[in-house]
Amino acid sequence: MKTKVWLSLSLALFSVLLGHCTAAEQAQIALTPPMGWNTWYGFFCKVTDADVRAQADEMVKNGMKAAGYEYVNLDDCWQGQRDSNGAIRANKNFPDMKALGDYIHSKRLKFGIYTSPGPKTCAEYEGSYQHEEQDARTYAEWGVDFVKYDWCSADNVYKASEMVSAYSKMHDALVQTGRPMLFSLCQYGLEHVWTWGSSVGGNMWRTTGDLKFTYDRITLVGFQQDGLERFAGPGHWNDPDILLPGIGKMTDDENRSQMSLWCLIAAPLIAAADLRTVSPSTLAILTNPEVIAVDQDRLGLQGHRVTAQGPLEVWAKQLSDGSKAVGLFNRGEGSMPITAYFKDLGVGETAVVRDLWNRKDLETFKEAFTAEVPTHGVIMIRVK
Ligand code: GLA
Repeated sequence: MKTKVWLSLSLALFSVLLGHCTAAEQAQIALTPPMGWNTWYGFFCKVTDADVRAQADEMVKNGMKAAGYEYVNLDDCWQGQRDSNGAIRANKNFPDMKALGDYIHSKRLKFGIYTSPGPKTCAEYEGSYQHEEQDARTYAEWGVDFVKYDWCSADNVYKASEMVSAYSKMHDALVQTGRPMLFSLCQYGLEHVWTWGSSVGGNMWRTTGDLKFTYDRITLVGFQQDGLERFAGPGHWNDPDILLPGIGKMTDDENRSQMSLWCLIAAPLIAAADLRTVSPSTLAILTNPEVIAVDQDRLGLQGHRVTAQGPLEVWAKQLSDGSKAVGLFNRGEGSMPITAYFKDLGVGETAVVRDLWNRKDLETFKEAFTAEVPTHGVIMIRVK
């Protein structure tokens, strides 16, 4: 009898301790916006184990890992059927998920996966509905570090008012496993997710529908993020979706615009281009250390719009060293001069300016900084 009591006391103590450890480790996740790579826009459902491994290899070789990209995220379409015990198995394109996780970890990168609170994912593969705890345990066994939880068919089984508890349920299941996993909410901004995303353990949450490979769609989504800044911070970020440089036909100016805006608004930086064929200029855009440093600034303050005059916008982000990162965006057709006034930015009368894309100090400016900005382009500076 005594032994039994001791055993259950020890077990209880162990699970409390495990809970504390997990909570402490979980609290260290995404202290700056997550960085990585995701299969969706580059591969959609035509994705295999070999493709994912190849991207991990490239991230190490091409300098992205050194620049801070760490998650290798497998999006939709990896799922097969459940086995007789209900455990999820991958389809034939992914012969051994644990081995894939081990491979990614052997590169000192992290492994991300995708599922849905609904019975089916958006591409009609098996979702986690009524298998949340079992799936969380399977992911932990596979060594998963990141779970994207995409609403999709959950609309058929939950009311909108049950969305919060559906997300909470999976978060609890993930925590229960004892393995820290970043929790990425994807439900396209429904139910003002930014107001409750962090309360269900969300480390990032999509704020809008999907992107398209056009400057118009990307900037529509990106510039729409103004006003959401108070909901973001270390551990929990607004997610305007994936970085598209290297996919579609966007120009370098357009790609720099997405990258600049995403960094100014402290967005997760998850690239999608096929890294085996990405051009040197796209890679330079994805890895510019001074631009990435704006995104990764430890204060974790999301930037916002300072002024907009027609298609000309000035955005700024406060940085931890007291300086401001500023983007001068030209959304119009044809090159135009744009001025950022220091009083609007809240900096003194004179300021030292550094050009972040070109990585060079400019002169000291009085009252304002003006630059000619190409069509669909950006000038990104640091002002002190
Ligand atoms: C939704 C999501 C995308 C992607 C696909 C996969 O559209 O918003 O990011 O995950 O599903 O089917």
